[in-house]
Amino acid sequence: MKSKVKLLIIIIIFLTIFVYIFVKHVEHPTNKKSVSKETSSEQEKKKILQSETASENKTKKGFIIEQINGVTYIDDTLIVNKTYSLPDTYGNGLEKEVLDAFDLMKTDASAIGLNIYIASSFRSYEQQVNLYNKYVLRDGKDAADTYSARPGYSEHQSGLSFDLNSINSSFTNTAEGKWVNDNCYLYGFIIRFPEGKENETGYKYESWHLRFVGKELAKKLYNNGDWLSLEGYFGIDSKYQD
Ligand code: DAL
Ligand code: ZN
Repeated sequence: MKSKVKLLIIIIIFLTIFVYIFVKHVEHPTNKKSVSKETSSEQEKKKILQSETASENKTKKGFIIEQINGVTYIDDTLIVNKTYSLPDTYGNGLEKEVLDAFDLMKTDASAIGLNIYIASSFRSYEQQVNLYNKYVLRDGKDAADTYSARPGYSEHQSGLSFDLNSINSSFTNTAEGKWVNDNCYLYGFIIRFPEGKENETGYKYESWHLRFVGKELAKKLYNNGDWLSLEGYFGIDSKYQD
């Protein structure tokens, strides 16, 4: 009798172990599937959310827009135009790499008998207030907006731009103007407001206004002599809100 009870207990134990193992084997894959189903649908939701967030931070051409301390960078290039402004306190002179690149360009120009010089360099927010207001008084706001940036919207405040020589259209067809147009990209500069791109940049053609973007991007924008605008290349607007 005792041994029968013992046997029964052993059978029960074995049966319990068997049932436990069976249930584990059958249920586990189902759970896994359902877990993985939930996970994948969660992942899908996350992906959609992420892409919605990302698309809000991308230009029409898919470049990433970042705002750091009130300054806009697109694909790591600082952008200031009628859409993207700078903080009032931003900037304190031309950046060193800009001056170095200019010095190199000036030296090379000089070697072939050309004289290029910076006629208007960094301009603070306050300096731009005075300049813009002067133009508004002279020509009216609508006209001024076609050639002068409102305070906070000028590239001159970025420390990456300057105007060369005569600061007017007479520069375009001088030997210096032509050489700068054809060679500035080799030093990392672009013609920031190219001819025929007024609707993209928001400004009239300025052959004298250069912007440093680095050699790689400058070469792309030079576009074998048919200058692209930064706005066209990145797929962004240059429009005031009012
Ligand atoms: N002349 C350019 C647009 C400026 O004022 O920054
Ligand atoms: Zn300028």
